[in-house]
Amino acid sequence: MSDTPDKGLAGILAALAEFHAGLDEPYKMTPAGMWACSKSEEVYELLGQLDLGIYRRFADLGSGDGRAVLIASLFLPATGIEADPGLVEASQDMAQGLGLERVEFLCADCRQVDLAPYDLLFVYPDKPLDWLVKMLPDNWRGHLLVYGPYFQPAGLTHLKTIYAGQTMCTLWER
Ligand SMILES: C[S@@+](CC[C@H](N)C(=O)[O-])C[C@H]1O[C@@H](n2cnc3c(N)ncnc32)[C@H](O)[C@@H]1O
Repeated sequence: MSDTPDKGLAGILAALAEFHAGLDEPYKMTPAGMWACSKSEEVYELLGQLDLGIYRRFADLGSGDGRAVLIASLFLPATGIEADPGLVEASQDMAQGLGLERVEFLCADCRQVDLAPYDLLFVYPDKPLDWLVKMLPDNWRGHLLVYGPYFQPAGLTHLKTIYAGQTMCTLWER
């Protein structure tokens, strides 16, 4: 792991830039939905506005190219769950190349994964979040961080709104 998060971020940005240089477009349809990228610098800024010391494990539900997971792993253990095998492979390759050890990527439908081990969930939703609200364990004590203003989780309690750059993000609990 890099000695400081800022230094670690620089390596992650470089790895993402290299991956994206080989793509025609930075978005595509996947087996489960639509891949579009959050802004890495905003994710870093967003996480920096949270008290990350209170969380044990981060998970990105629909992790795309793995950017939020790679960035979160600079602060705490982090898991990416993504339905697209090519994106999972690219994420794993970047994590390995960067020597990031607190990272794992699962190629799976996140609607089928037990979310109990994760207490900081991140989602940049490509669809409404009803499925997620329904599958959170009743006794789940974690927080859900939603990137972007388009889909909000009805039925959860809003804790705060955080701006990362121009992007409105929200934090929720059960
Ligand atoms: C808008 S992109 C966000 C990507 C990434 N989280 C980021 O911040 O750049 C949504 C991602 O969720 C994935 N996805 C959607 N539904 C999914 C599901 N049920 N299981 C796993 N991945 C899913 C899509 O394949 C896509 O890569």
